[in-house]
Amino acid sequence: MIFVTGGAGYIGSHTCVELLNAGHQVTVFDNFSNSQPEALHRVERITGKRVNLIKGDIRDLPTLQQALKTCGAQAVIHFAGLKAVGESVEQPLNYYDNNVMGTLKLLQAMQTCGVKNIVFSSSATVYGDPQRLPLTEDHPLSTTNPYGQTKLVIEHMLRDLYHSDVSWRIGILRYFNPVGAHASGLIGEDPQGTPNNLLPFIAQVAVGRREFLNVWGNDYDTPDGTGVRDYIHVVDLAHGHLAALRRLQIQPQCIAVNLGTGIGYSVLDMVRAFEKASGKPVAYKFSPRRAGDIASCFADASLAHQLLGWQSERDLATMCQDAWRWQSNYPMGYAKV
Ligand code: UD1
Repeated sequence: MIFVTGGAGYIGSHTCVELLNAGHQVTVFDNFSNSQPEALHRVERITGKRVNLIKGDIRDLPTLQQALKTCGAQAVIHFAGLKAVGESVEQPLNYYDNNVMGTLKLLQAMQTCGVKNIVFSSSATVYGDPQRLPLTEDHPLSTTNPYGQTKLVIEHMLRDLYHSDVSWRIGILRYFNPVGAHASGLIGEDPQGTPNNLLPFIAQVAVGRREFLNVWGNDYDTPDGTGVRDYIHVVDLAHGHLAALRRLQIQPQCIAVNLGTGIGYSVLDMVRAFEKASGKPVAYKFSPRRAGDIASCFADASLAHQLLGWQSERDLATMCQDAWRWQSNYPMGYAKV
């Protein structure tokens, strides 16, 4: 039984599909603060299998302990957390509470229940402003905002835990920029309010929900002046979690691994690829740089290949086609079908 915190969210729901398809049983533990139960109904529809759902908050230790015990969890994949950079600057305590305190309680509950196997959602944000590219896992760690700080604190917490008890199995996955959707078009990213991230914003322009995209800065030191990122298909990312679970089965260990493609695309590359995939124009305007943004960020993805036997398989056109299928099927996301 795999216990998935935040399993109803964007990356969580896609990972549940792949876990179920691979024959795992899945218990989702989610407080639905930024997700919908409908996502899990769709997961069941896609896979033809049942998801065991427990509504709860990871900061609620007794409920968490009870849930881990009753479902017979063997491993945890920990997605639950807040993830908006701007919001984290305005509400830092909320971020430390949900992300750091929540993870602390989760680890305490796991320790009590003797479940010492966890895959954690970290982020390339822990590399701060890259000193060299592509980013390898040994690049110095730093952060520029409270959201990133919480990811870094949790990484330290996990490493300290492993050093105190080497029977733990800990996989820290540093995601680059997850995009796309399941090929069925039934599940996808459903941001509340104005999307912070690029691809959901582009998709909403293409579908007519927004007039134009603000391109934050065209004077970066990149080929076309716009920011370059490593976009990775969410289904590839989901497979990375299964690969990490397999690796952790071999022996107790604590590993930190990038999940990216190793390829950087600019904002304008993304606009053009999405226009092609959707057949819709994506209007944009150049605007000043967004505070805290960096010019370029892309992975050295070789450690994931070496350690996990994993590499991304879906190209940019597939990412955009799949994101568009979801967006055009459900222009308003899960809420208003
Ligand atoms: C952001 C977070 C990162 C987090 C990740 C989660 C910041 C500074 N970083 O990464 O910590 O882990 O999301 O997915 O917020 N862009 C536009 N117009 C838009 C939106 C984005 O031009 O409306 C540009 C950005 O300037 C950037 C690129 O698109 O060059 C990607 O932006 P985004 O999707 O927000 O991801 P990151 O900033 O890489």
